[in-house]
Amino acid sequence: MPCALQTCLNKGLRKPRCQSVISSPIVAFRVPGESSLEISGLSKSFDGLKAVDSLSLEVRKGEIYGFLGPNGAGKTTTIKMVLGLTYPDGGRVLIDGKDLSQEPHEIKRRIGFMPERVAFYNNLTALQNLEFYARLKGRREEALLDLLDSVGLKDSVHQKVGTFSKGMVQLLGVAQAMMGHPALLILDEPTIGLDPNWTRVVKDRVKEANASGASVFFSSHILSEVQELADRVGILNKGGLLAQDTVENLGSRLDIKPRLRISFDGKPAAAEQALRSLDGIEAIEFREGELVVVSEPGTRTSVLSELEKAGIHVRDFRTEEASLEEVFLRYTTSAAESIR
Ligand SMILES: Nc1ncnc2c1ncn2[C@@H]1O[C@H](COP(=O)(O)OP(=O)(O)OP(=O)(O)O)[C@@H](O)[C@H]1O
Ligand SMILES: [Mg+2]
Repeated sequence: MPCALQTCLNKGLRKPRCQSVISSPIVAFRVPGESSLEISGLSKSFDGLKAVDSLSLEVRKGEIYGFLGPNGAGKTTTIKMVLGLTYPDGGRVLIDGKDLSQEPHEIKRRIGFMPERVAFYNNLTALQNLEFYARLKGRREEALLDLLDSVGLKDSVHQKVGTFSKGMVQLLGVAQAMMGHPALLILDEPTIGLDPNWTRVVKDRVKEANASGASVFFSSHILSEVQELADRVGILNKGGLLAQDTVENLGSRLDIKPRLRISFDGKPAAAEQALRSLDGIEAIEFREGELVVVSEPGTRTSVLSELEKAGIHVRDFRTEEASLEEVFLRYTTSAAESIR
C-alpha cells in the first residue's frame, strides 16, 4: 500500500486529491484515459418521463466517484442500467473497456454491488446468506467470517437475518458487495440509515478497498461523506449531468470564495472596521464567536495583518474551502441553472 495513502488511512484523513495522488502507485500506473466505468449517452424513460437523459460520465481507474443528485434525479436508474438490471433505451456502458452485454458473467464477477434496497433471505443466517452469494459469484473459499467481522457483524454471523436491525442488514449489504475484492464497487447510498459509528466503519472499508486498487462509484445524499471520500463528484439533475469534477474545481468554477475563520480577542465592531476598506473582501460575518471573512484567495495575510495593526489579537485562524453542500445547492437550485 502506498505510504502517503496508508498515512491518510491511519490518521483517518482524506486521500490525497488528484494533484497529489500522482505519487500513488495505484494511479501512477494508470494508463491515461483508462476508465473503470464509462457511460455514454445513456437514456431511460418510464411512461414518457425521462429518468435518465443522454447521460455520459466516466469513473477513472482507482478513483472514488461520488454520484449526487436530488431525489428522483435518476441515480438508481443509472446504476441499474450499469449493472444490466434495467435495459436502457439508448446509450452504452463500458466496464473496464468492455461491454457488459458481451461478457456479462465475467464482468459482473468483477463488480461488487450494493443496491438501494438491501434484501437477504430472512430465514438464513448472515454467514449462510454470504455463502449463497459467494456461490453465485462462483467463489468457493472466501474469508467470510473475517469479512463479517470487518463490518462489525462478528457476533451475529450465526443469527438469522430476519432478526437483524435495519442497520445490521445494511452492514451485511456492504459485506456482500465487498466479497471477493471487486475491481469496481458500485454502492447505492451505502450508509443510509446507519448511525455515526457504523457510518465510519463503512467509510473506512470503502477507503481500504480503494487503497487496495478498487474503483468506487457510489451515490449518497450525505454531502459531508461524499466530500470526505470522493476524488470527483458528478451532480445529476432530472436525468442529466450538471457537473463532474473535484469539489475544489466545482467550487472555483462557481466562484465560491474560501472563508477565513478567525478567533480573536477584541471587539467585533473594531474587527469589522479594520477590514472594511481592504481590497478583495466580499463579506464579513460573526459566527459562533468567530470572525468569518469571505475574500479573494490570497488576501489571508493582509486580513491578519490589518487586524493586528488595529490592536486585535488573532488567537487562531483557519481557511474553509468551498463545501460540497454549497456546490450542490448552487448547481441544483433553479437560480444556478444558468451556470450550465
Ligand atoms: N420502475 C419504474 N417505473 C416508473 N418510474 C420509475 C421507475 N424507476 C424509477 N422511476 C422514476 O424515475 C425517476 C428517477 O428515479 P431514481 O430512483 O433513479 O432516482 P434517484 O436519483 O435514485 O432518487 P433517490 O435519491 O430518491 O433514490 C423518478 O421520477 C422515479 O419515479
Ligand atoms: Mg436512488
